Parts: sequence; structure tokens; C-alpha cells
Amino acid sequence: MNHAPFAALLALLSAAAPPETPEAMARGEDRMRDFCFACHVFEPGPGVTNPLHPRITPEKWGTYEKAYENIGNLSRIRPQMSHAFRGNDEDRKALALFLAKLGRENVVPWWRVALPYAGLVLAVVLAGGFLLGASRRSRGRA
Ligand code: HEC
Repeated sequence: MNHAPFAALLALLSAAAPPETPEAMARGEDRMRDFCFACHVFEPGPGVTNPLHPRITPEKWGTYEKAYENIGNLSRIRPQMSHAFRGNDEDRKALALFLAKLGRENVVPWWRVALPYAGLVLAVVLAGGFLLGASRRSRGRA
């Protein structure tokens, strides 16, 4: 008998995201505190050099599959993260669920992306207005 289809099905089932039960999310958060917070602080702040929350980006962490994969390959993301994940597969799954939720919700609003450019746009508009005014003034004099 050929077992390949069963093996494939099993692999697929174990890769699928488990349900986001309150228990799994609590366990995931607890794993994050225990493991990731050995080196990271959650939110940025004065004196915080290694905040975790802003780095859980939707691009890299936004799905359960990506998060699960990342947790097992932290040293590939940054060589400094040399500690292999401590915990069993249930811990890893729960942490992946929790981090993926953080990642999904970590979308930067458009106005915050635009904010650094707002000053530039304002400067260009002001400079343009100044030049226009200057050319009008010099034409008026001629
Ligand atoms: C052994 C210490 C250590 C542990 C444990 C650790 N990290 Fe890190 N992590 C680091 C260091 C150091 C950096 C790089 C800091 C920098 O460049 O400012 C980093 C960077 C990161 C980055 C940014 C990488 C990038 O460039 O995209 C992410 C995301 C991250 N860690 C997530 C995690 C998560 C999630 C966990 C828990 C599963 C974790 N880390 C556990 C030390 C650690």
C-alpha cells in the first residue's frame, strides 16, 4: 500500500493554522514573555534598544505559517538570535498564532508613512510660493 498521500495529508494538516482559542493565545503570549523578552522589550521607549512589537511586521510575520517558520529559524533572521526556540511544538504553534495576530494588526497607517514627507512637501510649496512672488515683484519693477 502507498502511504505517500497520507503522509502528504498529514503534513498539510500539521501545517494548517490551529484555531485561535483564548488558551492558545494566552500560551503564545506567555511563550513570548518567557523567550523573546529575554532579549527584547515589547514597546519602543526611552532606553529601549531592541523593541519587539514594531518589528513584527505583516510582511514577515503576518501569517501563521510565516511566524511558525520564523520561530524555528530565528538565527537566519538575525545571527544575534542564536538561541534556538525553547519549547515543544505546541508552544511554537501557540507563539506563532500570537505573533501572527500581532503582525496582522501591525499595519502602519498611511498618514504615518506620509508624515516624514509632509515637511518636505511644505518646504517645496513655500519655496515655490516665494520664487513666484519674487519673479512677480521683479517683473513689476521692470
Ligand atoms: C538571544 C537574544 C534574543 C532572543 C531570545 C530573541 N531575539 Fe530577536 N533579536 C535579537 C537581536 C540582538 C536582534 C537585532 C537587534 C538590532 O539589530 O537592533 C533581534 C532582532 C529581531 C527582529 C528584527 C529582525 C529583522 O531585521 O527583521 C525580530 C523580528 C525579532 N528579533 C523577533 C524575535 C522573536 C519573535 C523572538 C522570540 C521568538 C526573539 N526575537 C527572540 C535578540 C534576540
